Amino acid sequence: KKLFIKTYGCQMNVYDSARMADALVPHGYVAADRPDDADLVILNTCHIREKAAEKVYSELGRLRHLRDRRRARGGDMTIGVAGCVAQAEGRAMLERAPFVDIVVGPQAYHRLPELLHRRARARHGVLDTDFPLESKFDRLPEEMATAPGVSAFLTVQEGCDRFCTFCVVPYTRGAEASRPAAAIVAEARRLVEAGAREITLLGQNVNAYRGEAPDGSVWSLARLVEALAEIDRLERIRYTTSHPRDVTDDLIEAHATVDKLMPFLHLPVQSGADPVLEAMNRRHTADDYRRIVERLRAARPDLALSSDFIVGFPGETERDFAATLALVEEIGFAQAFSFKYSARPGTPAAGMRRQVRDAVKTERLAQLQALLAEQARAFNDAMVGRVLPVLLERPGRHPGQHVGRTPYLQPVHVEAAGAAPGRIIDVVITDSHSHSLAAAPVAIADTEPGAPSRDLPTCA
Ligand code: SAH
Ligand code: SF4
Ligand code: F3S
Repeated sequence: KKLFIKTYGCQMNVYDSARMADALVPHGYVAADRPDDADLVILNTCHIREKAAEKVYSELGRLRHLRDRRRARGGDMTIGVAGCVAQAEGRAMLERAPFVDIVVGPQAYHRLPELLHRRARARHGVLDTDFPLESKFDRLPEEMATAPGVSAFLTVQEGCDRFCTFCVVPYTRGAEASRPAAAIVAEARRLVEAGAREITLLGQNVNAYRGEAPDGSVWSLARLVEALAEIDRLERIRYTTSHPRDVTDDLIEAHATVDKLMPFLHLPVQSGADPVLEAMNRRHTADDYRRIVERLRAARPDLALSSDFIVGFPGETERDFAATLALVEEIGFAQAFSFKYSARPGTPAAGMRRQVRDAVKTERLAQLQALLAEQARAFNDAMVGRVLPVLLERPGRHPGQHVGRTPYLQPVHVEAAGAAPGRIIDVVITDSHSHSLAAAPVAIADTEPGAPSRDLPTCA
């Protein structure tokens, strides 16, 4: 039986999709890369912005047609919806799209085999959007359905207790919960055994990680990173997404002391204006953010930053928006994501007065994105002529070409015939484009091992 999973949203959904496959493969499924001839199609959905639910319903409409055509030819197809829209919609989804077979939430997908079983006997679609007491991580098989690739994701913490007023995540993913450290280290070892050389630790609020350690103590994210850094052949460690409020002293220290921790950090700030940050319930000021960045850069001078921004949050004035632009100018981001505020059902901000007109949001977004694009371009351009260690991830467009990543996550095309994926090689950057770099390998004798990556300019 063939399984096709379509993934929307954040990296955690990418991880979850892989784990859903892990749960189903022992029950006779093999991964397919198209929905057309799949026996089971699962949409792993995201609810973070815009009319997410509407998009899922129209995609479901297309799947239904596909299934009708297959049924006409004597075939069949099971349709499942997972992820954050499934959680948010729940039973309403089975009412509005009764042709859907399975609706399963982000904390219940380890029960997919059981749900398929139940579906086979039921006359209607089945639903599981519980937040079960047992953790899915304890129930999912260890065996990986597909090889992880050179760069892998590993969920260490899930859910969120921060309740930013614009955000659905605390409702769709539930309360913060951290996996025990030993389980994470064991999973990291399995990923490395299977070929991973870089692991990105995932959590909705990953630096709030507080996991039970083997000796009964509680480990912070910094402590976990230190333990993972001891794994041989694991070369690079990253974590995402962090909240500025949870950037602790020991985490800043880890950026100074753990070489495997990459000098690139996604640290969303959302806005540079204090009244907006307060209305968002971010619980820090723009100056707090500046100070955290200062301390991180003092610990790791070559640290580059990425961030998320929301424009047009209810009540945002021209002056507030100008404060955001000023913060961006001041900090200098290597990369960033920016969005128009999108009112999400059930969140406090959706009911706030002084909603901003769409035309104003559009205008502000364009202005902010122009500035961020300029900074990203400058950051990439500053790489030209430098020597950087690049982790080779996959073959490029022609024989001998590889696609890899710098410590700053920039994709690099390298001409390096004979090199194998999974290796880190020193390259000299020869050209920069808006979203990628070109490079040539450096002869081993030309470089001092370990030296070049430390003294790069930051964006500022
Ligand atoms: N846990 C992360 C964010 C996860 S959501 C954090 O706290 O930073 C990813 C990004 O989506 C957020 O950083 C925010 O910029 C954006 N986002 C979330 N809700 C949104 C909304 N209602 N409208 C617009 N953007 C939103
Ligand atoms: Fe959403 Fe805020 Fe939690 Fe991030 S910290 S997931 S933005 S509520
Ligand atoms: Fe989207 Fe859920 Fe991730 S809403 S961003 S898939 S946590």
